Amino acid sequence: MDYKKHIAEKIKIEGATEQEIYDLLALPPNTEMGDYALPCFKFAKIFRKSPAMIAEELKNTIATDEVISEVSAVNGYLNFKIDKNGFVSETLDKILTQKEAYGASNEGNGKTVCIDYSSINIAKPFHIGHLSTTVLGGALYRIFNYLGYKTVGINHLGDYGTQFGKLISAFKRWGNKEEIEAGGIRALNELYVRFHKEAEEHPEYDDEARAYFKKIEQGDEECQALFRWFKELTLKDVQKIYELLDIQFDSYAGESFFSDKMSPIVEELKEKGLLTESRGAQVVDLEAYGMPPCMILKSDGSSLYATRDMAAATYRKKEYDFYKCLYVVAYQQNLHFKQFFKVLELMGKEWSKDLVHVAYGMVSLEEGTMSTRKGNVVFLEDVINKCIEKAYTIIDEKNPNLEDKEEVAKKVGVGAVIFGALYNNKIKDIVFSYDKVLNFDGETSVYVQYTCARANSVLQKGGVPSAYEIPALTGEEIELVKTLATFPETVKSAAEKYEPSLIARFAVDVAQKFNKFYFDCKILAAEDEKTKNFRLALTNATLQALKNAFALLGIGIPDKM
Ligand code: ARG
Repeated sequence: MDYKKHIAEKIKIEGATEQEIYDLLALPPNTEMGDYALPCFKFAKIFRKSPAMIAEELKNTIATDEVISEVSAVNGYLNFKIDKNGFVSETLDKILTQKEAYGASNEGNGKTVCIDYSSINIAKPFHIGHLSTTVLGGALYRIFNYLGYKTVGINHLGDYGTQFGKLISAFKRWGNKEEIEAGGIRALNELYVRFHKEAEEHPEYDDEARAYFKKIEQGDEECQALFRWFKELTLKDVQKIYELLDIQFDSYAGESFFSDKMSPIVEELKEKGLLTESRGAQVVDLEAYGMPPCMILKSDGSSLYATRDMAAATYRKKEYDFYKCLYVVAYQQNLHFKQFFKVLELMGKEWSKDLVHVAYGMVSLEEGTMSTRKGNVVFLEDVINKCIEKAYTIIDEKNPNLEDKEEVAKKVGVGAVIFGALYNNKIKDIVFSYDKVLNFDGETSVYVQYTCARANSVLQKGGVPSAYEIPALTGEEIELVKTLATFPETVKSAAEKYEPSLIARFAVDVAQKFNKFYFDCKILAAEDEKTKNFRLALTNATLQALKNAFALLGIGIPDKM
């Protein structure tokens, strides 16, 4: 049972929804006051009454029941005390019987969510800027799955445009098959960079590149083969990173897949009178909506990013009949998404309301941690490997006799990169710092992992009890259980708000409360058998909840550290 929900249902305030009340209900700083508290300040303006009066009046409308043992009004807060024993045993039983399904639900049954994430560009570096879309998308994929939705992970490859003509031109002029095979994306990127440099002095190279791109489009055997090869090399290269980050996709249908699926869209736009000409190009005017025009066709008749996205959205609706289609893409592309969502709406596609741009902030590297001078890109692979190395050094120092140090370092290092990108509200810009993400005492994944290792070691020594009874409870125990009990709602909110950070914060919160419990209450040396058993059960439930949370984020938990 969700006690917070039970309380929220009982509070009736005109003009406030149950959800709003639910969100307002907080855990008071000390349990003496109550277990949940509703701050009434928010309503003072609406009702033109003091918060204290509002709290007092509300108090008189709420009767105690089998869950709520006491209601009081103190300093503008409406405080609730709940029957602790019932609450604690119910929460622990739920976690310990549902195990890896604790927090899961079937609310999404029968509904499909498409998630467009990572969506890398062929032959371009997979750099630190792709970290957020990849791990946010991966987490949302798991979260929606956990809530019973069918999820479709889509890597909308950037595999269309004159840059592939440039690559062919560069490869034919300077390329060497073996070197490129061995060098992968880095080698392809070097070719591309060299092309740009040399084309400054040889503008004819650009014409050649355009011609090659046309050939790809027209189905020229040789050019298509080269293009496919660039694609294979890129995907093979990034697969290493996807494996490390535990990321999967159900579709790699990218921009080129849609390059021949756009004429129906263009036709429909024409029919509906939405296209206008602007300097030879075909556009949809969006001035009435405060946006610049959305470009549909260039003057030479070739398509644009937005057109391909409109074709892709239409295709996804037909293919998957999605309930929602998410685009996990940096906020720099806000306008692009607003524009083509609007154009689809103007075309009368009622499902355009189900397209969601899940925007996120920028990730940059702390100054001095890696050379970004001369505009060098920072490859994500290098960041991950460096984090694993650093994790190894720390672990080796702390626990030189640990078995499987390499495996542990991998889980810690990769986890730190993922968690570093997921811990903050997604729209915030973040500066990635190795020291910060690997701080054992910070709000970090390694702190949570270390807490799990601690819990594991306690359980190894004390054993997992098959049954337990509730002893006289301490404040630390109750606080911990209260936090554990919020997990199902946390998962739901994370999905509703497209905000995996809520789950990351839950994990840190649980770990902090567990550590407080661990230091203040003796587990193995508890005063009696009943208390010891209960504490072991609580430790076990904590470990389970942390495992579930981290599984949703895609982070592994070592048994020992
Ligand atoms: N490849 C694009 C980029 O790197 C992101 C694509 C996002 N997805 C989409 N359907 N537009 O900027």
